[in-house]
Amino acid sequence: MTNLKELVGRKAADYVENGMIVGLGTGSTAYYFVDELAVRMKKGLNIVGVTTSKATEEQAKQLGIPLKSIDEVESIDVTVDGSDEVNPRFNGIKGGGGALLFEKIVASRSKRVIWIVDQSKCVDTLGAFPLPVEVVKYGSTHLLHYFETKGYQPVLRHKDNQVYVTDDGNYIIDLHLKEIVDEYALAKELDSLTGVVEHGLFLDLTQLVLVGTEQGVQIKEHV
Ligand code: 5RP
Repeated sequence: MTNLKELVGRKAADYVENGMIVGLGTGSTAYYFVDELAVRMKKGLNIVGVTTSKATEEQAKQLGIPLKSIDEVESIDVTVDGSDEVNPRFNGIKGGGGALLFEKIVASRSKRVIWIVDQSKCVDTLGAFPLPVEVVKYGSTHLLHYFETKGYQPVLRHKDNQVYVTDDGNYIIDLHLKEIVDEYALAKELDSLTGVVEHGLFLDLTQLVLVGTEQGVQIKEHV
């Protein structure tokens, strides 16, 4: 069986040109994109990366990819990242890997955002995948209770029997919504809550989605 994450991750490198500043996403699909960039750099490709997590930073450094911080660049030419769900409007849920905050900052500073997904991530309606909400530690129990009263089925994220802490030092509350009827209304509500740093609804940020299928890579362009 084809590794669809690898197929689509390596294909995305076709969208990177010499001299570009490239946003490097996070996760098991973006891993292959970053790896492929290093392969192509050995053949002469010249780029500078901006990473979206400590994990990707480590990978890029090990591969010898030159990096700049987000604050050292004016903008990013193209960012390639994975996604946990994407709907027909190219809106999605991200943050399964916990890097949503830096991923959204990098995406919002990018001239072009490309998502790389296997076909299991394409959905009609968002919400089957738990929606990550990054919150500051201080007062996070109150937010958890608020989400409970709203019926959002919140779960404070844990990893290795410890409360999970993001690269920026915050907690993540995953909302088990099952179905998000209006992602814009929900994003507005989450944006308005004090203590919420960011959420995993990525709306109107992505122009191109590459979908890995058993038949090859399907290219979906936003119209
Ligand atoms: C990390 C993310 C990832 O891009 C998302 O979880 C997809 O990951 P994967 O490619 O491993 O399925 O948003 O915060």
